Amino acid sequence: MEENIIRHDYSVNRQDRRANLGQNSFLMWFTGLSGSGKSTIANALEHKLHELGYKTYALDGDNIRKGINKGLTFSPEDRTENIRRIAEVANLLVDSGIIVLAAFVSPYKKDRENIRGIVGNDNFVEIFVNTSLEECERRDVKGLYKKARAGEIKDFTGVNAPYEAPESPDIEIITDDLSLEQCVEAVFEKIKPKLEI
Ligand code: ADX
Repeated sequence: MEENIIRHDYSVNRQDRRANLGQNSFLMWFTGLSGSGKSTIANALEHKLHELGYKTYALDGDNIRKGINKGLTFSPEDRTENIRRIAEVANLLVDSGIIVLAAFVSPYKKDRENIRGIVGNDNFVEIFVNTSLEECERRDVKGLYKKARAGEIKDFTGVNAPYEAPESPDIEIITDDLSLEQCVEAVFEKIKPKLEI
């Protein structure tokens, strides 16, 4: 079947769209445990970029799983499919000239490498939001760790499912001793050179 699908190239390309928007486009991928602060940092950074006039879009695990990825579970296979679809969506957005911030637990190394393959190395910034399990569990903002420890959630990352920490992320934020503003500044300083065409 797939051999009968032939790519059609449109005359307006990624560089043209970026030029029109006056910015480079790329994907910032936040990975880390549930409750590590991925979404909070992505949200605050998007706000800063937006204020500066950049065109952005944020993709978030909890929201995406209510829409395009509704029905996917937290089994390894479904997480792989979850991440693959997000990577494809992010790639379309990057192609449209938008700066994308994605916050997903994405616990498997091979899935994160797959994202790099889909969007391309130059367009991918892997950000490890490194918050210890103890701290995530202490915060337990959504009450999910408590439920997982009580055996009410299966395959819960950090409790009864693995988290494979990135070995050489592009950016690592050890949040335990940093304020939200410091986390945002740390990421912003690193991605600044990528913003302009
Ligand atoms: S991922 O592993 O497939 O990347 P994703 O980021 O989409 O996960 O969703 C994680 C969010 O779903 C968590 O922030 C948490 O709120 C919720 N959640 C519910 N069940 C689980 C689970 N078993 N493991 C991890 N997160 C879960």
